[in-house]
Amino acid sequence: MRFNSALLAAAAAAGTALAQRPTNTSICDYYTMALLKENNATNQYTLLTLLVNTAIIGNYTQPNVGVSVPGILNPNGMYNNTKVNLVPYFDGGLASTNEGGSMGVAKNFLDGGGAAPLMKNMPADDMTSNQ
Ligand SMILES: *[C@@H]1O[C@H](CO)[C@@H](O)[C@H](O)[C@H]1NC(C)=O
Ligand SMILES: *[C@@H]1O[C@H](CO)[C@@H](O)[C@H](O)[C@H]1NC(C)=O
Ligand SMILES: *[C@@H]1O[C@H](CO)[C@@H](O)[C@H](O)[C@H]1NC(C)=O
Ligand SMILES: *[C@@H]1O[C@H](CO)[C@@H](O)[C@H](O)[C@H]1NC(C)=O
Repeated sequence: MRFNSALLAAAAAAGTALAQRPTNTSICDYYTMALLKENNATNQYTLLTLLVNTAIIGNYTQPNVGVSVPGILNPNGMYNNTKVNLVPYFDGGLASTNEGGSMGVAKNFLDGGGAAPLMKNMPADDMTSNQ
């Protein structure tokens, strides 16, 4: 199966459409058809997996469609010419969860393999991690 999710993510992020979406077709129906050809429940689920994973780890699908999506877990992320690294909020590097009542608690949400399983369209390498 060939994916085009970087293009989808870029289009979604920029609020633009690849082509004109008919007003009587939902966004999900339209992009599932446009990118995965057949519009059914499996492909709609796959589309959302690709969209979420691309937002998190950046463009990763093949073939590459020439649209770069940095991803929020990119340690070298840039915003307005300023380096932004959000990874410590997700890997336990900061006491940034609110599970400790009056104190933040550090928690590693990337303990199920991090980006590697996402690149295989899996949520984690195991069933028991925080990830
Ligand atoms: C949307 O509208 C077009 C033109 O009116 C029509 O041909 C098409 O069947 C409609 N699609 C759906 C999903 O209702
Ligand atoms: C949806 O279509 C894909 C092929 O594009 C197929 O592999 C999958 O089994 C279909 N799923 C359902 C629920 O029909
Ligand atoms: C993401 O897209 C950019 C621009 O096309 C490309 O240079 C880069 O190799 C892609 N990254 C991955 C991991 O596919
Ligand atoms: C980008 O940085 C410039 C210079 O610091 C600032 O004036 C501007 O408001 C910033 N723009 C955004 C969208 O943060």
